[in-house]
Amino acid sequence: MATDTHVPEPKRHEAMPSTRADANADVRARDIEQQMTDDERFSLVISILGHVPGGFAGPRDPRIPEDLENMSAGYTPGVPRLGVPPIQSSDASAGVTNPGYRPDDKGATAFPSLIALGSSFNPKLVRDGGVAIAREARIRGFNVQLAGGCNLARDPRNGRNFEYYSEDPWLSAVLAAAQVNGIQSQGVVSTLKHYTLNCNETNRHWLDAIIDPDAHRESDLLTFQIAIERSEPGAIMSGYNKINGEYTSGNHHLLNEVLKGAWGYKGWVMSDWGATPSWEFALNGLDQESGVQGDRVMWGKEPFTDDLREAYARGMLPRERLSDMVRRILRSLFAVGADKWGPAPKVDIAKHHEIALEGARQGIVLLKNEGALPLPKDKPLKIAVIGGFAQQGVISGTGSGAVAPVGGFAGVVKIGGAGIMGKHRNLFLYPPSPLEELKKQLPQAQLDFDPGYTPAEAALTAKRSDVVVAFGIRVEGEGFDMPDLSLPWGQDAVIDAVASANPNTIVVLETGNPVSMPWRDKVKAIVQAWYPGQAGAQAIAEVLAGTVNPSGRLPITFPVSLEQTPRPELPGLGTSWGSAVTIEYNEGTEVGYRWFALKSERPLYAFGHGLSYTTFDYDDLQLEGGETITASFTVKNTGKRKGADVPQLYLTEAAGDERMRLLGFERVELEPGESRRVTLAADPRLIARFDGKGGKWNIADGTHSVAVGKSAIDLTLTGSTRLLGRQFGV
Ligand code: BGC
Repeated sequence: MATDTHVPEPKRHEAMPSTRADANADVRARDIEQQMTDDERFSLVISILGHVPGGFAGPRDPRIPEDLENMSAGYTPGVPRLGVPPIQSSDASAGVTNPGYRPDDKGATAFPSLIALGSSFNPKLVRDGGVAIAREARIRGFNVQLAGGCNLARDPRNGRNFEYYSEDPWLSAVLAAAQVNGIQSQGVVSTLKHYTLNCNETNRHWLDAIIDPDAHRESDLLTFQIAIERSEPGAIMSGYNKINGEYTSGNHHLLNEVLKGAWGYKGWVMSDWGATPSWEFALNGLDQESGVQGDRVMWGKEPFTDDLREAYARGMLPRERLSDMVRRILRSLFAVGADKWGPAPKVDIAKHHEIALEGARQGIVLLKNEGALPLPKDKPLKIAVIGGFAQQGVISGTGSGAVAPVGGFAGVVKIGGAGIMGKHRNLFLYPPSPLEELKKQLPQAQLDFDPGYTPAEAALTAKRSDVVVAFGIRVEGEGFDMPDLSLPWGQDAVIDAVASANPNTIVVLETGNPVSMPWRDKVKAIVQAWYPGQAGAQAIAEVLAGTVNPSGRLPITFPVSLEQTPRPELPGLGTSWGSAVTIEYNEGTEVGYRWFALKSERPLYAFGHGLSYTTFDYDDLQLEGGETITASFTVKNTGKRKGADVPQLYLTEAAGDERMRLLGFERVELEPGESRRVTLAADPRLIARFDGKGGKWNIADGTHSVAVGKSAIDLTLTGSTRLLGRQFGV
């Protein structure tokens, strides 16, 4: 039995900076920009969407050179005489996408969705994925990867939560920074997106997100702030939405005052595609208009071409501002080394698959287990595998972030819908199938597949089996919020019917959000697999068969019903595409588990929850106060098999003010009987309140209480310590 009592250094400022390719990036950017003509400057401040035959961008844009080999989300010409490379950008966070641009591209590694990686609570794993994505981007000529989705999951209906890590600022920031660092270490610029509060998809181009500015600083903005500090992303992509009445892409306060002013951000701000209605956004801090054809579709013009030039000619756009826009772009390209690419890196596609597999394994969350799992490998069980296209593959989220996997999809079902994202809304299936993978893991078992076509038919198969593994899937994606928490296509009824026919039912969910699970009391086990990427089927089968001990923890609260959430009704839902929508995020900084704590609501499954095939105990909490809270405690694997745990440190009260804040976490792998001392030091901003009037963070003087727990509601160790009242900036 190994007992490690070594106390590691506190984790507070454990930033992992990108490899800085050029420490003189600022000086070089200034020097090169000075040598440019105005035409060259203007050519850099737009990006042009690649051409897809039949796509909404229309015919091939004449500004894209005939001999350009690879096209994707964005192209900006370079300035060869000054050593400035063309900018070629590609989506996104789960791998290099190919939305019809490159007919001979044989596919990229489809990594798990970010919410699955959020469940891993493992920055190292996320960083490794970032490195792999960047290498696959590089061999295709992409020097900007539109990754780093880190909006907070405020609403379980948000169609894009699968492209974000979590509902918590610290977890999201640490993981987003890890991915950016991985990507940028390979000479590829990464974005963080979508700045900010782009937390619903309903009529996103016309969505006004209302929030108290101080609460915003403590939540979504703090996420970006910490992620920026830890990774220095070359670019920030603004959102489609407005905040408190101003579009984020042209929001003077958020771009000029907060991002570039208070935080001193040095990279460039690009708009989301089709999110620039006016040239004046340049005055308010936007440096580049992206996907200009999108703006033509949305607003009837490309504001950063003719309008911006005209404003410049009339003296309305100062020369200094134009230079600043260009310098910021150059600076990021140079800082990351995107201008100094040597030969293309070697891409070890098998190794990338392993990273995707590890991500899927660590991202799977075992929500419930009444002794049904793991399935015994040595018994000739009759297993009914029901529904979810489990005979074909696992599903992915839909929209610009969907990756075409190596070897192609196992199937694509067109779903459709309103608005410009309607024709991109598909059910994508990644091979191999969970059915095949279960056969490999359980060679003694006899597997019987039923498509879950009708409840009655599925129940017949369930009845004649020893065990039922029922799959529940839901395609979520860009441009669409889900109206409720149910599974589509009558799957809740199918699961209910099979569980009634056979109580030995295990449910595997492939969704991007919490679902309501009306059948949950009837089933023995529930496995949340999210959109697990191209290795997902193997990971699911390994967890079911016990080859892998599940270790994922929920990065988002599962409510019993929408009534428990801040917005039982989602404003704008049901209005036609193009309607103006206002959503008041009145929960402010009390997002997710914080809201549930504040309202004393008990969730279905709490943030941080996740079961294992072993057990863990926490002991001996030591706290240090002063300027921040530092906690150390011992984690022990008290079960019979090796496993990984994610102990979480929460603030529960700040000098009389009850509030929940995740202050730290660490994923620890332990052999049976092994224990480890974990030390976590809180970023003081997680304990403080932001006061916009003074522009300062305030820590209240007095006793602060914390708890160490297995989830936000399973708090096993508690203690308190004294903090000195103080104010600090940034
Ligand atoms: C999405 C962005 C994406 C961009 C480029 C937009 O629709 O919101 O996340 O990076 O398209 O494809």
